Amino acid sequence: MSLLAIRDVTRVFGGLVALDGVSFDVHEGEIFSVIGPNGAGKSTLFNIVSGFDQPTSGSVSFAGREVAGERPHRLVRSGIARTFQNTQLFEELTVFDNVLAGTFPVTRAGVVAAALRLPRARREDRLAREEAHRLLRMVGLDGEADTLAEDLPHGLRRLLEVARALATSPRLMLLDEPAAGLDSAETRELASVLYRVRDAGATMVVVEHDMGLVMEISDSIVVLDRGCKIAEGPPMLIQKDPAVIEAYLGEEAGDDA
Ligand SMILES: Nc1ncnc2c1ncn2[C@@H]1O[C@H](COP(=O)(O)OP(=O)(O)OP(=O)(O)O)[C@@H](O)[C@H]1O
Ligand SMILES: [Mg+2]
Repeated sequence: MSLLAIRDVTRVFGGLVALDGVSFDVHEGEIFSVIGPNGAGKSTLFNIVSGFDQPTSGSVSFAGREVAGERPHRLVRSGIARTFQNTQLFEELTVFDNVLAGTFPVTRAGVVAAALRLPRARREDRLAREEAHRLLRMVGLDGEADTLAEDLPHGLRRLLEVARALATSPRLMLLDEPAAGLDSAETRELASVLYRVRDAGATMVVVEHDMGLVMEISDSIVVLDRGCKIAEGPPMLIQKDPAVIEAYLGEEAGDDA
């Protein structure tokens, strides 16, 4: 069974069809990428899956349940986390507190059952702190725990966003351009973090323009162009697909003009 099933999703903004009858499946344990030229509809798709937007028509099912139109906080509780194309951190908080803040909604819910046996607040706090430290180690930021988010260099900010999304214990992670602005060493580090996240059991959908990274990490790729799905398959086939090459060449020609 697929973890995420996108069926015939269309999103119209006024006269603009940002997504046009898009369907695909993401299976549990996969690193799945969504690529396509600027304006293809990738972030719109993420907004719909994470509850920040609703499809005009079509269905989004997560773990067998229809979720289109549900609010973001409910989807977080259901196990969907995301990062944003432009990092959104609590700038005046430390790295550690940014991750800790992400753990709260989930631990609070989980602690209700344990409340009768243990002093609720202390246990909740200790578990959340342990989890935040574990996640910082996982993304290699344990040495920066006390640094203010606003003082972190760009590459590390991206990793902090990943750690913060992980703090909600997601089953599905949506990463919108995680390698944007990273140099090649930082991109290598990101790739190994994503493998660690997958090995920890999360399924990932990645929107990314860095084709080297996409071709390396993806089990499967969907290509969007102007709202339509133009190709789908493993990296080897996508790289050679004439419609995909055409879409990207068209973009370059447009940029030069
Ligand atoms: N809230 C909105 N209102 C109106 N138009 C929108 C809205 N959000 C997105 N669009 C339009 O929908 C289209 C798809 O945008 P989207 O941000 O999904 O593209 P993208 O594939 O993420 O592009 P990029 O690679 O540049 O991030 C674009 O033409 C965009 O201008
Ligand atoms: Mg985008």
